[in-house]
Amino acid sequence: MATAAASNAPAASFTRGLEGVVAGETEICSVEQGALIYRGYEIHDLAQHATFEDVAFLLLVGHRASKDELRFFKDELIANRALPNQVVEYLRAAGPMLKDGTAVPMDVLRTAVSILGNMDKDAQKIDAEANLRKAKRLTAKIPTVIGHMQNIIDGRDLVGQETGGDANLSHAGNLYYMMTGKKPSAQYERTIDVSLILYAEHDYNASTFASRVIAGTLSDMHGAVTGAIAALKGPLHGGANEAAMDMLSEIRRDIGPANDKAKIEAWMHKAFAEKRKLMGFGHRVYKNGDHRAPILHGLGRKIAEAQGAEQVALFEMGEIVQAQMLREKNIHPNVDFPCGMTYFVMGIPVPQYTPIFVASRITGWAAHVMEQHANNRLIRPVSVYTGPALKKWKDA
Ligand code: ACO
Repeated sequence: MATAAASNAPAASFTRGLEGVVAGETEICSVEQGALIYRGYEIHDLAQHATFEDVAFLLLVGHRASKDELRFFKDELIANRALPNQVVEYLRAAGPMLKDGTAVPMDVLRTAVSILGNMDKDAQKIDAEANLRKAKRLTAKIPTVIGHMQNIIDGRDLVGQETGGDANLSHAGNLYYMMTGKKPSAQYERTIDVSLILYAEHDYNASTFASRVIAGTLSDMHGAVTGAIAALKGPLHGGANEAAMDMLSEIRRDIGPANDKAKIEAWMHKAFAEKRKLMGFGHRVYKNGDHRAPILHGLGRKIAEAQGAEQVALFEMGEIVQAQMLREKNIHPNVDFPCGMTYFVMGIPVPQYTPIFVASRITGWAAHVMEQHANNRLIRPVSVYTGPALKKWKDA
């Protein structure tokens, strides 16, 4: 009798981690070595000329908004920012766990999105109109979850509990306001706005693929987004923006306050010798650099320069680390590396970096869920069996 492994034809060969495997089609985004394109618009163009609301509409609805469409879309987001009381109560209940570290903000955000699903009147519908309504509501509410969570961690009254913030602030500006209780400067607002544009979409990355797998069973939007948040949390994916900043803090602790290049390089050599993965570096698709990283690095560095020597020193340390990674390993930074430094100099608490990624990527995930539902086929690959050969239960 053939072994069970051998019987599992046709899976004779496979690619670990599905590297290079084409797993489907999409009209939403093209990730190329030379460009990152959202529905026909290149990322540098969007980062320079668009706002997050423009990009969110583009991704969710499928075309560039007219002036009226954009105004209506922004109003819809603003009108949907506030959270149901049940979610606020949950966030308050999670406060002690957030404070003692049992739960991290990504976990609490994941559960809050799941509860929002329980309360959404369209929860069980997966037609295009219902999906779009849910996508807008999630896009509007996720920054409020993040803001309230941070207020609870900081022991401050919830900012904008009734309204979800300040209707005069943009999505990015309101996110900062909800978290801190402070109105952002124009520079802070635009930097967060651009970071949200850069993070919004990236074709079949791990979390988006997870959302498509869930949607492919004809499950619902909130379920798909809940799963996607779990996938994004990992440090090999979105969690790398927090992990990159933690790594830079570790280097600073180990080498002291001055940027002694020899000490930084020695730290890196030790990390190489220990075969450590340096967070915020490398990418499954981009092997010649992540198009998003220099855009965010430039904006973050400008904030640091406006703030003073200590903040600039962080960027200088990052630049030494980057140069060495490129020189000795030929590995480029991904967007999470400058993101960590940028959010840090803005005073944003590190555990909220990945939730802010969610506040942006919700648009890409939702667009993919809608695309999957519109032309569905169950996603169900096969595996190569490597377990024991067939045996009898009775004889064991
Ligand atoms: N630090 C050190 N070495 C690295 C790194 C890194 N960050 N990234 C890749 N390498 C090395 C690997 O060790 C491997 O070396 P080897 O061939 O000698 O074993 C080689 O480069 C190829 O790397 P893989 O791990 O095979 O590349 P893969 O495509 O599987 O991984 C990944 C991509 C997961 C992003 C990886 O580069 C990594 O772990 N980076 C750190 C985490 C990170 O920053 N994630 C964010 C990704 S971007 C995003 O999600 C928004």
